Amino acid sequence: MRLVVAVTGASGVIYGKRLLEVLREKKVETHLIVSEAAEKVVEHELDMSKKDLVKLATRVYDVDDLAAPLMSGSFKTDGMVIVPCTMKTLAGITHGFADNLILRAADVALKERRPLVVVPRETPLNVVHLQNMLRAAELGICVVPAMPAFYYKPRGIGDLVDFVVGRVLDCLGVEHSLFRRYSGLK
Ligand SMILES: Cc1cc2nc3c(=O)[nH]c(=O)nc-3n(C[C@H](O)[C@H](O)[C@H](O)COP(=O)(O)O)c2cc1C
Repeated sequence: MRLVVAVTGASGVIYGKRLLEVLREKKVETHLIVSEAAEKVVEHELDMSKKDLVKLATRVYDVDDLAAPLMSGSFKTDGMVIVPCTMKTLAGITHGFADNLILRAADVALKERRPLVVVPRETPLNVVHLQNMLRAAELGICVVPAMPAFYYKPRGIGDLVDFVVGRVLDCLGVEHSLFRRYSGLK
């Protein structure tokens, strides 16, 4: 399996890091793009550099590399995940404004009818954010807000992160056991 993974500059870059770790364990080929804003958030929230984050991926591309293979639909992939996804990048995707490699790769996923998953992270949400999320769902994008559940009795931040990452993998049809699935109330 070959996936495009993009990390944008929203809070919650830990979700992107964890997804890359899990995909690496599962031997999934990952093509990573990190936005300029995400670089700053990675340093701030994870106390790590982009240089260390990209070690988790199979290949990495500059966000401004408008000649990268991911720019073309003829470069085959099994889908794309943007995690976390800023409101800016969400707006770009839902309006076809493909002025960087993340936005172009998402545009390609849509035109090639490939799975596209976004993990928006913002609160509270304004009308523009909500309209763009509705538009994303209408376009067939799997919208997985960074909203962990509590029914499986998480024991810490790691469990909360794994829940969201697990739901992303569910959208892509990747098997996992990152959280205990709901099986009714006791
Ligand atoms: C520490 C930090 C946290 C941020 N958190 C969010 C967020 O949760 N959601 C969001 O939409 N933007 C957030 N932003 C703002 C974005 O980084 C900013 O809009 C940026 O232009 C997005 O660019 P990108 O989509 O190319 O990464 C945050 C910025 C910083 C510095």
